[in-house]
Amino acid sequence: MTTYSQDMLIGELSRLSEHKPGVMQALQRTQELLGYVPDTALDVVADVCNVSRAEVYGVLTFYSDFRRNAPADVIVKVCVAESCQSVGSRELVDDLHREGFDVHTGTVRDGIACEQTFCLGNCALSPAAMINGKPLGRATAASILAAAKAAK
Ligand code: FES
Repeated sequence: MTTYSQDMLIGELSRLSEHKPGVMQALQRTQELLGYVPDTALDVVADVCNVSRAEVYGVLTFYSDFRRNAPADVIVKVCVAESCQSVGSRELVDDLHREGFDVHTGTVRDGIACEQTFCLGNCALSPAAMINGKPLGRATAASILAAAKAAK
């Protein structure tokens, strides 16, 4: 869910407030509900947890598992660990970059997010990728983008 009303979020987090939620719990619940933690939710979390907005921001930006932007429709993970590097993942990353996807920064384009990861457990089929949780072996930029477009 990527659209929400502030009232809905306040209502959901207020249920947590009966149990005096920590900032972490409130941020996790926000991400469960919305798929990410928008900046507009920071004040709501701060109010519910009775802490400053700065404190909420600090926790949000410290943990990389929190997303600050709406997730893409398709998540592509490209392995950049040793086995995949030994058979061309660096060239694969360069090819994706030429297509407009920087896996190091997690570019989102046309509803597709490309992110780097470190070993997908599919080393035998390096270079490996994963598209919305589905493994893709012997990956090329073309095969990744074709699979990503098919997954939309
Ligand atoms: S190193 Fe790439 S899948 Fe294991």
